[in-house]
Amino acid sequence: MSHVAVVLAAGHGTRMKSDLPKVLHRVAGRPMLSWVLDAVEATKPDATIVVVGHGAEAVVESIGDGVEYCIQHERRGTGHATQVALEHLGDGTGKGVLVVPGDTPLITGDALQQLVDRHAHWESGVVMLSAELADPSGYGRVVRSGGTVLGIVEDRDANIDQRSIREINAGMYLFCGDELAGDLASLEPDNAQGELYVTDVVGLVAGRGERVDAIVVDESVVAGINTLAQLADANRAARERMVGALMAEGVTIVDPARTYIDATVTVERGATLYPGCHLEGSTIVSEGAVVGPDVFAVDSVIGPGARVWYSVLRGAQVGGGCDVGPYTTLRPGTILESGSKAGSFVELKNTVVEENAKVPHLSYLGDARVGRGANVGAGTITCNYDGFEKNRTDIGEGAFIGSDTMLVAPVSIGDGAVTGAGSVITEDVPAGALAIERSDQTIIAGYASRKAERYRSQRDEDADKER
Ligand code: UD1
Ligand code: MG
Repeated sequence: MSHVAVVLAAGHGTRMKSDLPKVLHRVAGRPMLSWVLDAVEATKPDATIVVVGHGAEAVVESIGDGVEYCIQHERRGTGHATQVALEHLGDGTGKGVLVVPGDTPLITGDALQQLVDRHAHWESGVVMLSAELADPSGYGRVVRSGGTVLGIVEDRDANIDQRSIREINAGMYLFCGDELAGDLASLEPDNAQGELYVTDVVGLVAGRGERVDAIVVDESVVAGINTLAQLADANRAARERMVGALMAEGVTIVDPARTYIDATVTVERGATLYPGCHLEGSTIVSEGAVVGPDVFAVDSVIGPGARVWYSVLRGAQVGGGCDVGPYTTLRPGTILESGSKAGSFVELKNTVVEENAKVPHLSYLGDARVGRGANVGAGTITCNYDGFEKNRTDIGEGAFIGSDTMLVAPVSIGDGAVTGAGSVITEDVPAGALAIERSDQTIIAGYASRKAERYRSQRDEDADKER
């Protein structure tokens, strides 16, 4: 029997204490709901309906096309949400209906496929996923008698004996579409929350003597996220998966527990990550690069064999063999070509540092080009903002910018030109020239001892007067 999928994502997520719709909270850099949808899509449903309600617009915008949406205008429980989806489907009967909550980001396609496979030739009955948890509190419990599933009781509605049951309901089911609509219609909100519970359908089906199977899966895939503490746990678990997969592919990760990699990031084999790496967005770490300790990189590329440590990279490209850090900020539009360097306390924005050029210490360069092989002395700054506009600085190939040069943009320094240390450069410098802008040095011989002598005699005179 083919199946359609219904993903429940309309709830408030009240227990998250957050304005962001619960299913958009991120696990490894992606909304929880995206992880759930990946697992659902892996079972190849004929259609996927996402039930949205609270923050519907934000959810639709974040998830985008590729699924169908329907709106649950009032949050009347998981049973009601499922009912809304069936009404939207209209012809959902005759197929299996896979129901999955949107707040279980660790679920896998393999686990859901077990539901589909088990239910494949059933004409009636339900298959659900369960797990044995050391701490089952908060979850619905699977009530069995002699191994047969009788139904599900919610934590809040459970009596003391039922609370001690450690087998929990993962919230994922494969129902027969033909039966489901009728069963949902007969639900009553006679529970602690006054809601229509989809879990009660399981009891109805079992009560009719139809087959109900609960497939016990590993606890690592079932976590339902209702609080920020549970979200942090899920992130830790997702991280372990990701880091484990990378190590299996040949990435050296010095301390997996202190390495934070979004699922959207690529790390190539042969790279090494020291502790404190936070790699986010579309970041790519290439083969042989050594990153960290303590690097935050978002939407950035780190080239083969590059070395980056104690630094922040946002929308930056670091070429092969480059050297970045410690304490370097590379802001959007920064391109370090191969073999170049951005050293300690250097901030670069929208700046291209061409091959083998060096910006080794204490500089700010914005809206600039540093020509191939040029050297930018310590303390050099591009004065790129005149209070109204951002202006460009162009430094030619092989130029030598003296320490503490202020490059007042727009300005260009020719190939092979030199600027004197401490100069404020306001005019273009021709290729090969020296530009120096500071007063001539004056030498006054014997000044220091004469000054000391003057001081001492004045002091003695003053002391005499006081006596
Ligand atoms: C639910 C199950 C519980 C199970 C647990 C697994 C019920 C009654 N309980 O509890 O047995 O152990 O999941 O994680 O189903 N939603 C809607 N509309 C609503 C209410 C909820 O779309 O009116 C959505 C939520 O956005 C969420 C999902 O349904 O994604 C589950 O709701 P939630 O409130 O998290 O249920 P739990 O208390 O976790
Ligand atoms: Mg939940």
